[in-house]
Amino acid sequence: MKLSKRVVLAYSGGVDTTACIPFLRHELGCEYVVAMAADLGQGEELEAVREKALVAGADAAVVVDAKDRFVREFGLAAVQANALYDGHYPLSSALGRPLIAELLVEAAHEHNCGAVAHGCTGKGNDQVRLDLAVPLLDPALEIIAPARIWDFSRAETIAYSEKFGIPSHVTKEKPWAIDLNILGRNVEAGLIEDLEWETTEEVWSLVAAPESAPDTPSFVTISFDRGAPTALDGVPLEPLPLLTRLNDLAGRNGIGRVDMIENRVVGVKSRELYEVPGLQVLIQAHRELENLVLPADLLAQKAPLETAYAKAVYEGHWHGPLKQAIDAFVRRTQERVTGEVRLKLYKGSAVVVTRSAPRQLYRHDLVTYGSDCSFRQESAEGFIDIFGLASRIWSQAHG
Ligand code: ARG
Repeated sequence: MKLSKRVVLAYSGGVDTTACIPFLRHELGCEYVVAMAADLGQGEELEAVREKALVAGADAAVVVDAKDRFVREFGLAAVQANALYDGHYPLSSALGRPLIAELLVEAAHEHNCGAVAHGCTGKGNDQVRLDLAVPLLDPALEIIAPARIWDFSRAETIAYSEKFGIPSHVTKEKPWAIDLNILGRNVEAGLIEDLEWETTEEVWSLVAAPESAPDTPSFVTISFDRGAPTALDGVPLEPLPLLTRLNDLAGRNGIGRVDMIENRVVGVKSRELYEVPGLQVLIQAHRELENLVLPADLLAQKAPLETAYAKAVYEGHWHGPLKQAIDAFVRRTQERVTGEVRLKLYKGSAVVVTRSAPRQLYRHDLVTYGSDCSFRQESAEGFIDIFGLASRIWSQAHG
């Protein structure tokens, strides 16, 4: 395999991506390694991460602030699609990968590199997402995944880095693997792999234990304009600060913990923990508003597309034709999704308490049991006669 001499590495500061730096240079013959750390809202001091990369031997290290783009282009699209993988996972980590792929490709062009690299192992989903996205963005780029080439255990990876004088604080081992961004936090591996292990508080960080959440409920009104959240409690906010506030509010009230068995792309099942307070509440509120403004037949067709969308994104097809076609459908459905949803947040549950929309399809005059009802009940008998005809014919034919 002929490898490009100049490479951009997606760098997180963790054990694997750190070991990638000497590996790319010494084992794979790269002459120029650019480490790129993407700020997706992990709340970490990325300047320190950048310095780690230089300590580990990178020729250049850059930090790209992509928080705003992440929420706007990826997070909001997922909210509009009500995207939940396997029914529970709002794709917080998965959505980061196509953006990282875009950033890698942009950095490769900027730094005149012929290859991009990442520290994903061969067992996870992230490698699939990056490897599928990059060639759709620039088919000429090579993709190098050192962690799929070396055959290191965790301890060997750390030992390998230490051989190159990378201080051990850089490669400090954690009891589990964490992936954090503004859309949510994922924890996997370590103790979590034991299905009999009930989580303890130390594993959670964004969402309070419901039982220790405040004894008085919080209320929040979320305004949407054509499917996008635009204000909290009447205060207009850009998507990033809006999500930040909602993460805090929902998290404090114990909302957004997920402990699930997930079906990975590579065929294995894994146990995953997620903390997705803001995103979960946004999807709940958005779904409620859609239910108020979209007709039943459209909702019925949107639901399976939402599942297909979540699966496509999970499996790394963010830039692929199926997901793009669903995007076009979803965009069209969002034109009327304007209105407000008020929720009560209390000890682990978010409950919608009121909803309103200028173009709502709810008609009080038709549904009321009051005397002013304009529904023509006398038409119901004839309607049911015809509506039930097919099943009566079936029943008669079968005795
Ligand atoms: N299992 C989740 C997913 O596939 C989370 C992956 C998190 N990535 C990581 N490198 N820790 O989306």
